[in-house]
Amino acid sequence: MKKIYINEKFPYILHGGDYNPDQWQSYPDILSEDMRLMKKANCNEMSLGIFAWSSLEPEEDKFDFSFLDKAMDDIYEAGGRVILATPSGARPQWMAQKYPEVLRWNNRFEKWHFGRRHNHCPSSSVYREKVKTINTKLAERYKDHPALIAWHLSNEYGGECFCPKCQEAFRGWLKNKYGTLERLNEQWWTSFWSHTYTDWNQIEPPSPLGETSVHGLTVDWRRFMTDLAADFMKAEYSTVKAITPDIPATTNLMELYNFLDYRKFTQSLDFVSYDCYPRWEDNDHDIVTASNTAMIYDLNRSLKFKPFLLMESTPSNVNWHDFNKLKRPGMHELASLQAIAHGSDSVQYFQWRKSRGSAEKFHGAVVDHEGSENTRVFKEVSALGERLKKLNEIAGTMPDSKVAVLYDWSNKWAIDDSQGFVLKSKKVIETVQRYYHPLWKNGIDTDIIGFEDNFSKYSVIIAPMLYMVSEELGEKLAQFVKNGGTLLCTYMTAMVNENDLCHLGGFPGAGLRKVFGIWNEEIDTLYPQNIVKVKTEAGETEAIDYCELIHLEGAKAIAEYASEFYKGMPAATVNNYGKGKAYYVAFRDKGEYTDSMVDRLLKEKNITSYFDGKLPYGVTAHSRTDGDKKYIFLQNFSQGTYKLSTSCSWQDVETGGTYNNEIILAPLETKIIIKVAS
Ligand code: GLA
Ligand code: ZN
Repeated sequence: MKKIYINEKFPYILHGGDYNPDQWQSYPDILSEDMRLMKKANCNEMSLGIFAWSSLEPEEDKFDFSFLDKAMDDIYEAGGRVILATPSGARPQWMAQKYPEVLRWNNRFEKWHFGRRHNHCPSSSVYREKVKTINTKLAERYKDHPALIAWHLSNEYGGECFCPKCQEAFRGWLKNKYGTLERLNEQWWTSFWSHTYTDWNQIEPPSPLGETSVHGLTVDWRRFMTDLAADFMKAEYSTVKAITPDIPATTNLMELYNFLDYRKFTQSLDFVSYDCYPRWEDNDHDIVTASNTAMIYDLNRSLKFKPFLLMESTPSNVNWHDFNKLKRPGMHELASLQAIAHGSDSVQYFQWRKSRGSAEKFHGAVVDHEGSENTRVFKEVSALGERLKKLNEIAGTMPDSKVAVLYDWSNKWAIDDSQGFVLKSKKVIETVQRYYHPLWKNGIDTDIIGFEDNFSKYSVIIAPMLYMVSEELGEKLAQFVKNGGTLLCTYMTAMVNENDLCHLGGFPGAGLRKVFGIWNEEIDTLYPQNIVKVKTEAGETEAIDYCELIHLEGAKAIAEYASEFYKGMPAATVNNYGKGKAYYVAFRDKGEYTDSMVDRLLKEKNITSYFDGKLPYGVTAHSRTDGDKKYIFLQNFSQGTYKLSTSCSWQDVETGGTYNNEIILAPLETKIIIKVAS
């Protein structure tokens, strides 16, 4: 396996973050102090210019790069490198005043005023032109600057625009997708409530003032918004890449952000980066937070099957959670190394220095308003930087996963919009997280994949609440099982096609009825206080929220309902299909049964963690490899000290010391080890 570096010219773990010298131009002492502190903090990277447009172009077509020239030179001189942003995430006042079309419209078809950020219309030709001009100037000016290692396109692309231009573009997108209005009417089932369109111009985006009941429309609107944002981003990408073809470009993503299908959105990027702000310090909940966070890291890595960058994290608190608790000593190190364990080649911060005014003055930062290196947070950052220097050989490596979990944005949108089930809270993400949890806690490296990815490299695919399944996807899943894979699906599988039309001929549709060997006749949605008893092979468990009433058509029941009018009907099944197996769990449980099902699959397929010892709850072992050496990150997210027993000998990557028979892990400790003997 070849190492895949973000930039081969700087093949190290990056440590740094968002730096805003544009805010401090009249404080020269602070700017030079920043360089001294950057070295002290063991940082080797700064992300520059993210919201700097009004400094770079204070008046239309009058450019001033002086602050950036100086910052690029100073950082390089101090031994650092720069990830340079295009400034499109926020625009100058003069631009909005002169060209109001650059601003967005909301879903009530009202125009936004200037303010905040990320407030631009992706269809505005003026905005695109202005972005192109400034991006061209930046790329030309810094193309040969030795500090430049990557482009940071805009900032956290997202949101929606409902202006007339975007609406027009949506109608064009639909014409392209459906060809004729007849086909659109049929796929959107618009004869329902007499919503048939007779003119393309009748089509409006979903709005609380208008259409919300045509679900083909609601899901297509989100797909269109993804394509439009991707098109905008591609324009930025092409501008800078035309001038600097060797500088890789990324943009920063936000968890499972609901307004963009990140899998489609990131196709044109060179690599992915991610802004991660978990709600730590919630005591017992931290272990669950760690599991959910790991899942998003796995997703980010799987978007391009490459190492990614942790582009932003806070060294302590944020300012936008409901409760902005400080990270306790040790948590920052643990959380940062977790990102590395799952494929990040960096630990970067928002923000380097706390801004003096405006909305983010109380957001955590490496350098506080006090200004020195004598703070708890600075010392922790600096100590982490010291550790990261010893991990450079891990940059470019990847996990080698045998298990994949499917997560798809259109599927989530379609379930959320569906009218029925538990109306307001379908819990798609929570369910996917719950199925991921046993994989995480057992130290099983896992990819989070989409419909279009290659299934054949996995032994096990887990696809919770896979409601939207096209005929093509049904066939792909069938092939996966036929060829020997193990597939696990749950209640609500394959109910609608890719345009949200129900499959006829029984659920699960799209050819999956024969793969699972079952027919799902009805689904019972329970009140929160209801529990249905389920008899399992190991004893008893409880169903909550959903119970599907399924019939066996070749599958074997491995659990059955033990109360309700469907007592005796199958509640979980397994079916042999081709060389593989298809499991179906027809109910939601509180987690215990989910754990046991995942354990069962792993056992059957002989998939184990690369660390041989037993992992106590909260202690994990995830790995990255260059194809030869396997780096195992043992991490303790619990408050207990544990002695892990092992029958192998291990070497500590950082200290060079060896461990035989046992490894002790203190609370919040990480040890990175490689096997020296079995
Ligand atoms: C986002 C943004 C940053 C900053 C942080 C605060 O991730 O990209 O500019 O606002 O949030 O946590
Ligand atoms: Zn618009």
